Amino acid sequence: MAFWKFEKQKATMAVDYAPVRQDAEDDEHGGTRVTYTTTRPEMRKPRTWQLYLLGLAAVALTFIIVDTGETIAHRYFGGRLVVRDPFANWGQSGSGTEQLAWYPTDFLRDVIPVPCHSHNDYWRTVPVFTALYAGCTGVEADVWLRNGDLLVGHDTASLQPNRTFQTLYVNPLVEILQHQNPKTEFYDGNDNGVFDTDPEQTLVLLVDIKTDGAETWPWVVKQLTPLREKGWLSYYDEADGQFHPRPITVVGTGNAPFDQILSGNNNTLQRRDAFYDAPLNKLEEEDGSGNATYHTYNATNSYYASVDFWHAIGAVWWRGGPNITQLGKIRSQIQAAKDRGLVSRYWGLPPWPIHVRNKVWEVLVEEGIGMLNVDDVNAATKEDWTRPGTF
Ligand SMILES: *[C@@H]1O[C@H](CO)[C@@H](O)[C@H](O)[C@H]1NC(C)=O
Ligand SMILES: *[C@@H]1O[C@H](CO)[C@@H](O)[C@H](O)[C@H]1NC(C)=O
Ligand SMILES: *[C@@H]1O[C@H](CO)[C@@H](O)[C@H](O)[C@H]1NC(C)=O
Ligand SMILES: *[C@@H]1O[C@H](CO)[C@@H](O)[C@H](O)[C@H]1NC(C)=O
Ligand SMILES: *[C@@H]1O[C@H](CO)[C@@H](O)[C@H](O)[C@H]1NC(C)=O
Repeated sequence: MAFWKFEKQKATMAVDYAPVRQDAEDDEHGGTRVTYTTTRPEMRKPRTWQLYLLGLAAVALTFIIVDTGETIAHRYFGGRLVVRDPFANWGQSGSGTEQLAWYPTDFLRDVIPVPCHSHNDYWRTVPVFTALYAGCTGVEADVWLRNGDLLVGHDTASLQPNRTFQTLYVNPLVEILQHQNPKTEFYDGNDNGVFDTDPEQTLVLLVDIKTDGAETWPWVVKQLTPLREKGWLSYYDEADGQFHPRPITVVGTGNAPFDQILSGNNNTLQRRDAFYDAPLNKLEEEDGSGNATYHTYNATNSYYASVDFWHAIGAVWWRGGPNITQLGKIRSQIQAAKDRGLVSRYWGLPPWPIHVRNKVWEVLVEEGIGMLNVDDVNAATKEDWTRPGTF
């Protein structure tokens, strides 16, 4: 694939250097220098690319200064310090956490659930627990079908044969819920969720399908079996037309196939126990068609309604936050989701600089966003990011 580049380079060299061979050591920048050889000015005018580079360097420097300043301010005057970190030695031999079967028994005791969705790939050793500890009510698993198993990882390079959907997500959740529901041998309709402080709160498990949807989805359905058998998956029941919240709500995104989600898991109960991540920016279009009585995506088949913030709303550059046009869009998209009983969510929020990120979070929360998508779960849940910044 690199072949054409090489060819192009060769061609360019030939064209550039052919007419200026006689004093090539004088000027390395090709054909345009011909004008200078006859009447060389005292001082050269800076080339466009030099100006461009200078501009870039200035911009980079400004950003570095702002970022360093923010980080220092944040560190010394900013958010509450995180007092305990149960994950410091997680997984190390001798710590008792070599296998994910173990977790601290009081680990979620004081955690207050917050509607934030954790996109937590960088915490690769303990995906679920970090988010739960921060209080996030949504976690995400990026799954890939490989050699007859579902591997979890942000990209193909991070995949390992023993890091599966089952071992990193399903089994730990079963363990936590067993701990939260010690005496429940038969389903009694009152299962506690994962959060002690709010047992009714469901945890959204967002499964982002990275490989072929039609092929991969049945494996997800299959690997959820331990949770399903315990009655711990939220479901929609066709018999009563109701959504029944349970400790875990599974939502499919990425390549997740809408048709398979619609057809349910085909168990004998006629239940749909996984939901779709509807396109947030398409809901309005559907309403705009004037046929608002028919909605493809509604609470019977979808749970989240999400879209890429950059794509749907656009860039937010400085601390002013989204402009008036963008605000209008955010408002109507969130409302469209609400009208259908769906939980709105934007991913791809500007992560940096921190004051822009915080401003966008603030605006979304003010506008009633259903779920805040975050990369930094601790910043989102343990710090007061709604305060005006130091800048
Ligand atoms: C997965 O396998 C690697 C290498 O065999 C091992 O070092 C690691 O501890 C294993 N991880 C888990 C979660 O079992
Ligand atoms: C659905 O379940 C029924 C009854 O168990 C079975 O006969 C049928 O083949 C299943 N359909 C699919 C698509 O798995
Ligand atoms: C609305 O859309 C549904 C499904 O496409 C269709 O059955 C129905 O006739 C439409 N209603 C109107 C008023 O266009
Ligand atoms: C919900 O969506 C399903 C599938 O797209 C559709 O058949 C049904 O009519 C919708 N219900 C409402 C109330 O819009
Ligand atoms: C708002 O921002 C978007 C994206 O940056 C831009 O395209 C649009 O023109 C802006 N609108 C107003 C009214 O400033």
